Amino acid sequence: MGNQPSSSEARHSRSSGELARIQRKLAGQSARSAPRKPKTSSHESLRDQAYRGTGLEAGGTRKPLEAPTPVVISQPGATGTAAGGKPRAERPCCAARDLSQAAYGLNASSPPQKSSMIFGQARVTREDFMPLKTLGRGSFAKVLLVRKRDTGELFAMKILSKKAIMARNQIEHTMAERLILGNVQHPYIVALRYAFQTEDQLYLVLDYCSGGELFFHLKREGRFPESTVRVYIAEITLALEYLHARNIIYRDLKPENVLLDREGHVLLADFGLSKLLQDNQDKAMTYVGTVEYLAPEVITAQGHSFAVDWWAMGTLMAELISGLPPFYSTNVNLMMERILKAELRLPEYVSPEARSLIAGLLTRDPSKRLGSGANGAAAIKRHPFFSGLDWDALMQRKIPAPFQPVRSDAPLDSTENFDTSFTDEAPTFDTSAEEERVRAKLLQKAAHERMQATASLPPANRSATDALNVLDGNLIPWTKTPGKVFEGFTYVPHHGT
Ligand code: ADE
Repeated sequence: MGNQPSSSEARHSRSSGELARIQRKLAGQSARSAPRKPKTSSHESLRDQAYRGTGLEAGGTRKPLEAPTPVVISQPGATGTAAGGKPRAERPCCAARDLSQAAYGLNASSPPQKSSMIFGQARVTREDFMPLKTLGRGSFAKVLLVRKRDTGELFAMKILSKKAIMARNQIEHTMAERLILGNVQHPYIVALRYAFQTEDQLYLVLDYCSGGELFFHLKREGRFPESTVRVYIAEITLALEYLHARNIIYRDLKPENVLLDREGHVLLADFGLSKLLQDNQDKAMTYVGTVEYLAPEVITAQGHSFAVDWWAMGTLMAELISGLPPFYSTNVNLMMERILKAELRLPEYVSPEARSLIAGLLTRDPSKRLGSGANGAAAIKRHPFFSGLDWDALMQRKIPAPFQPVRSDAPLDSTENFDTSFTDEAPTFDTSAEEERVRAKLLQKAAHERMQATASLPPANRSATDALNVLDGNLIPWTKTPGKVFEGFTYVPHHGT
């Protein structure tokens, strides 16, 4: 996940350094042996067998790669205005030019602004929301189910620790998420309602998707019938088509980031890895995404564009139908090699229409990939897999969802589709656990780097305690952030606990 809280630490994340090593290896410069695949037991599902030992079989999720050094853009004077500044319903859909990243940069030295209007309402603070449940947690963010005290409305509140964001170099991603979510409006994209900040934290208040992650249901079901996949993939196609028309690449499509609403319709969430291109000819160069879903052109670092989303959709479709991503391996090096070279193999039960659509989306040459032609998503919508589908009705949410994830008699604040390991946790605004995890990770990384550096010294110059020395924490760039203002999040100082 970009900064999407996930069910557990994932296995397939790679730092940019590691990815560079893998890319060198793929280019034939070095080789490492692959770990052996764990043994499986007969009663496990295909998915559980493949993910055994990775944490995914028991509720884990995969984590996206981290982008290399982020760019901090500065601009004169942070204004503190929030998402759109108008009630959502009144806001026009974004035009690409309104999303210029330069216009939404950061200026660390600007004082906190106290602009208070969000969507035309009086400013909100976290005291306006009552925490009800914990829904998820990730490396530097957590998500709570909250109730707005005055209206009784339910929302999902994503809380990000500024300290953790800065220590993990995630400023640009966080700003992108705020910026993009605040400027899009689509039936199959989660709606951002409020964005504000205190001295230490950022808050994104989103519509609550009580159906939970598609990943949660896929784990439970193992795989879905094609009739179900057809509706999910069609809804996702509409959401991606909308984003691409606004020069936005989503870049992190996976079942963990596809949420379901109470009726069972898809909502794309987590825009932390999304990228706004300058125009439709522009290319992104940084490595992002989750390994299973990486397009070949991302692995080979050729520069990538909208086609990466169609590749990821092909991977997702194959996973929903068969239970596993098509080039899956527990060994990420091998998985990347398969993505680049292996023959696409799908189970025999997959229909010719589904097979053909998956193959079209998983075309390695991005210029020939289905969806990349002059007519964009229209080519996907015309594919025989969708024959007879009324796309206009789908856009109006008139096609019934494949199944209703929340029992009809369940209360609106039901969390039955969320992992009990989270919902059993006390719902607090506190993010010190997230900060502690980030700090531990940085310590681990520093220790690893130090050990590697020490290993290259002659034995006489090595100290047995070198690796431990870094654990004193003095070498860790643990950022001091109070007062740091994130543009686009209204500043509302926090009083009390
Ligand atoms: N997790 C992240 N965003 C969410 C949302 N809007 N609803 C439910 N769970 C979420």
